[in-house]
Amino acid sequence: MPIIRFRLNGVETEIDADPDTSLLTVLRGRLSLTGPHFGCGAGECGACNVLIGDHAVTSCDTPLWSVADKDITTIEGLGSEQQPHALQRAFIAEQALQCGYCLSGIMMSAAALLKRNSDPTSADVKAALDRNLCRCGSHNRMVRAILRAAAEMRAS
Ligand code: FES
Repeated sequence: MPIIRFRLNGVETEIDADPDTSLLTVLRGRLSLTGPHFGCGAGECGACNVLIGDHAVTSCDTPLWSVADKDITTIEGLGSEQQPHALQRAFIAEQALQCGYCLSGIMMSAAALLKRNSDPTSADVKAALDRNLCRCGSHNRMVRAILRAAAEMRAS
């Protein structure tokens, strides 16, 4: 198997695996990062979203070969229990989840949005979450949480 190298949550990482394996399979199965979730497996639900560079990407349909030498961030790299990211604090403050299955993917979409737009409108947030499905119907609270996080980040 070829060795593929990338930076994962800031750490140089290498893995020998079939280059056509999905990034999600490698993250969950080989690297024990279970934050990105398997939902549809077809790039349609966003539960598996991670950041590649500054962009939210569905890891279930991203082949391993395509992330060589890239920077990958998963929800595990966004913040920690000791030092949660502003998004994580805001989602807790707004109680912006129910079952939580979609949550890490939604936070990664939100993180990508806040990297390119520090002062988004509700419409901007809704557009950024357009490809993230939440079957619990928590989207309105999530929009509030993302706007709250954006305000906090601008103030800091
Ligand atoms: Fe990847 Fe649904 S599991 S988009």
